[in-house]
Amino acid sequence: METASRNIVVGVAGGIAAYKACHVIRAFKEMGDEVRVVPTQAALEFVGKTTFEALSGNPVSTTVNDAVDQVQHVRIGKEADLIVIAPATADLLARMVQGRADDLLTATLLVATCPVVVAPAMHTEMWEHPATQANVATLRARGIVVLQPAHGRLTGSDTGPGRLLDPEQIVDLALAAAQGSSFDTSLAGTKVLISAGGTQEHIDPVRYIGNHSSGRQGFALAEMAAQRGAEVTMVVANSDALPTPAGATVHKVTSAREMQAAIMEHAPGHDAVIMVAAVADVRPAHPADAKLKKGRDEAALESLALEENPDILRGLVQARERGELDPDLVIAGFAAETGDAEHTALELAKAKLERKGCDLLMLNEVSGNQVFGQQRNRGVLLARDGQQREVPDGSKLEVAGVILEELLRCLERRRTSSQDK
Ligand code: CTP
Repeated sequence: METASRNIVVGVAGGIAAYKACHVIRAFKEMGDEVRVVPTQAALEFVGKTTFEALSGNPVSTTVNDAVDQVQHVRIGKEADLIVIAPATADLLARMVQGRADDLLTATLLVATCPVVVAPAMHTEMWEHPATQANVATLRARGIVVLQPAHGRLTGSDTGPGRLLDPEQIVDLALAAAQGSSFDTSLAGTKVLISAGGTQEHIDPVRYIGNHSSGRQGFALAEMAAQRGAEVTMVVANSDALPTPAGATVHKVTSAREMQAAIMEHAPGHDAVIMVAAVADVRPAHPADAKLKKGRDEAALESLALEENPDILRGLVQARERGELDPDLVIAGFAAETGDAEHTALELAKAKLERKGCDLLMLNEVSGNQVFGQQRNRGVLLARDGQQREVPDGSKLEVAGVILEELLRCLERRRTSSQDK
């Protein structure tokens, strides 16, 4: 789907989170998309028609009886390349299941053949009610992507699952769905532990040794795993700006040693660990308690003594070999390689897979600052059984989708081989 020619319909149902739809509309407009907003009548109780018209640059109506000469629902539905509904209320989900056509949004949905992505928002009780869950299952079986809502603060003082995902999460997930990423729930019942971000190793209270990792790829993997039904735990180093993936439990750390402690604490009980974090290989041997000063601490600043950090990934594999972790635990890592005079990045990644002993390794070529901080990624996935899979250029969520397919394959293989023993 070419960005320049995309027709996006943003459906908005009547919930307090309707204001967040404004950011979804704006994000698509900023990418150059043509946006049609189709709210329900109830949505206009929360956000005015004028706001939606101003943001989208298109007229807004809620009923098929407006502009009848243009048969609006047929035209909007047929022309749409992608329909994103944010927020979707329990009532709208029920009406979609019934195939009703009592307003412009539901009528449009009956006409459309493009991908439809639904971001629900409601109180936890309503989300977890068997009626809503049955409706979600029916819509998913029809090929509609119903996103897992976030966990967090709801309208009142209550918290729990049912909160609308952040607008940037909705937009990114919707685009991944439109590009064909799978949103089936085949990771349901699987527990995945993911590290993300970049560690910081303190030199003194104001300085540290760090790296350029934005945490985006780790968060994208966690988001995609959560959307596909996994129970996700994250250990995050210094990536505070990114929204928490739906339902994930996040443990924050700063340094490599803190990350190792958290990973080793949480790995038992998980089915897979994915080390995405950029871990600093070394740390200052003698971090100072007070700020180092020019003049006074010249010697310490000029020759900073360093010592090696633990290799967390290798440590996980060794713990599994020693029987301290489940033999079926799948362990995956990333390799940021630039290649050098003697070796290509692929050769270095193959050697790294061997050295670390993990089951999967995703090679990122980082020359020319291709990956750090970027929204897109690509590379090669190497598996221990010798399989090699090109991961084509895509958003970090699309790349995450490919990695999770391979992870599922590893989980299946390990489970079957341990059953055979
Ligand atoms: N990793 C880790 N502990 C470290 C360093 C890296 O667990 N101390 C993990 C990373 O999370 C990643 C993988 O190992 O999944 C490879 O990271 P990378 O920085 O590419 O490799 P290094 O081990 O640092 O090897 P080299 O310095 O030779 O590139």
